[in-house]
Amino acid sequence: METVPANIKWVLRDGKKKDFTSSQQLFSVENARKARSFHRQIPGYRISPLKSLPNLALMMGVGGIWIKDEAKRLDLNSFKVLGGSYAIYRFILDKLNIANGELEFEELTSPKVKDQLGDITFASATDGNHGRGIAWAAKQLGFKCVIYVHSETSVRRIDAIKSNGAVVKVVDGNYDDAVEQVIIDAKEYGWEIISDTSWGNYTTIPKWIMQGYLTMLLEAQEQFSGQGIVKPTHIFVQAGVGALAASVIGYYHSLFKDEAPICVVVEPDQAPCLYASALAADGQPHTIDGALDTIMAGLACGEPSPIAWEVLKDTADAFITVPDYIAAKGMRVYATPLNGDPFIVSGESGAVTLGALVTILKQHGLEQLKTALKLNKESQILFINTEGNTDPLHFRQIIWEGSNPVPKEYWTNL
Ligand SMILES: Cc1ncc(COP(=O)(O)O)c(C=O)c1O
Repeated sequence: METVPANIKWVLRDGKKKDFTSSQQLFSVENARKARSFHRQIPGYRISPLKSLPNLALMMGVGGIWIKDEAKRLDLNSFKVLGGSYAIYRFILDKLNIANGELEFEELTSPKVKDQLGDITFASATDGNHGRGIAWAAKQLGFKCVIYVHSETSVRRIDAIKSNGAVVKVVDGNYDDAVEQVIIDAKEYGWEIISDTSWGNYTTIPKWIMQGYLTMLLEAQEQFSGQGIVKPTHIFVQAGVGALAASVIGYYHSLFKDEAPICVVVEPDQAPCLYASALAADGQPHTIDGALDTIMAGLACGEPSPIAWEVLKDTADAFITVPDYIAAKGMRVYATPLNGDPFIVSGESGAVTLGALVTILKQHGLEQLKTALKLNKESQILFINTEGNTDPLHFRQIIWEGSNPVPKEYWTNL
């Protein structure tokens, strides 16, 4: 009997019935339109490109590889600002008792509105990208911002947050420790937390953040229509706390229900909290302890967001974990396109899903997973390049110096 390689692990839904209730409540087209009508008022808003890699698709034996490239989103190098800015907007509407859609972006910065709101400081914990988005949004609207990072966060990521005007505090420990600390300090100083993860009764803001991500999916669906494609057949989406994955997978299930694409959640093997929750098979979110030591800084989370898990447990088709070198491989595949395919700059957390696909399709011993996911030459697969070159030094170490190489026993004959 063939042995399955040890580097990739997975849990499949395996025909378990899906439930669309929470997807439909949170991620309706109407909610997506509300988010987009806010985002399109932001100066500099542009639809992010949906890029196609037809030659890679041919080489890999699939129908199409489509990349929603968020590296260029508002020049902030990541999709994250879509969530943070929309949550701050909804928070302000709530404070002013105004219905959604009835306050234009320009009015948000007016002295009258500022007077009504008073002095607000927004705060959040981050691995880098969310904090940068919140800092940017707070600055645009003229509010103060404090961002908590953990001690392993790179100087480049910290500088990117500071350059958007926020105060940065470094907390000993990992991302989950930074979340704990910001909760304590926000209570003491009266700050407003804009967190992408949820806990206890703190669910409204994380829900708005997930809804903010819908702008990118509404755009993607319009872009697919322009290509004569009704929907992708597959989606590979990367996860930290799972908010992005819930938004993506929830939106497609709210739209297409049982006809939704096959949706695969990809996590680092050093921070596989959603995979662990799926594996436990008790319907509950489960926490992973430890250093969460991975190059995929954006995905280094040990605790699932409970409201995201709620959606994912009812809809995701597979949870996969991969080692760091698969993310590095994904970065190199993006950065060295086949002749005729576009060049895409993708960071560690952005590239891991393409790395996972290429591995599943071509690494010896993974045929069983490929078959279970129904990957074949008809497949039109959507990826989200969730970040560009967010840590330039590390990016060059991987692409130029060849750090995080694939072990020789897993090389493919391409
Ligand atoms: C680049 C990047 N991709 C993906 C994610 C995953 O998002 P989530 O934590 O909602 O699962 C993050 C989170 O910070 C990120 O920074």
